[in-house]
Amino acid sequence: MRNLIVALGALLALNAAADCEVKIEVGDALKYSTTEVIANASCKEFTVELIHSGTLPAVAMGHNWVLSADSDVDAIATAGIPMGVAKNYLPDDDDRILAATKIIGGGESTSVSFSLDDLESGTAYAFFCSFPGHTSMMRGVFKIG
Ligand code: CU
Repeated sequence: MRNLIVALGALLALNAAADCEVKIEVGDALKYSTTEVIANASCKEFTVELIHSGTLPAVAMGHNWVLSADSDVDAIATAGIPMGVAKNYLPDDDDRILAATKIIGGGESTSVSFSLDDLESGTAYAFFCSFPGHTSMMRGVFKIG
């Protein structure tokens, strides 16, 4: 019985940890493996791991994961285009960007960790890829649950 309780406790701890981290896969197409990410409000820090399982290089089929208010997505993506791949197709020092990974190509992975403290309930948040031409297809909903 005691072993069972210990095992259950470990399982619960695993579940709690899993809520503060999500893995998202991308490949050689304009698609995230998920279109909705729900972050547990109790998470001190939330981590998104982005895995590119394709084969094309970042200059041809790069992807990143950027978080912002849903209403800021298009303006950020447009401002990011002239910045080039070296700057991850994102404008410098833009407060509208709440979190962002670098752009990665096939076979690479990256992650970003951020606090949920600055996110407000009642604001619609979205995640997207800022690689030119990808944003309208690679876009999802980010919620605090
Ligand atoms: Cu992309």
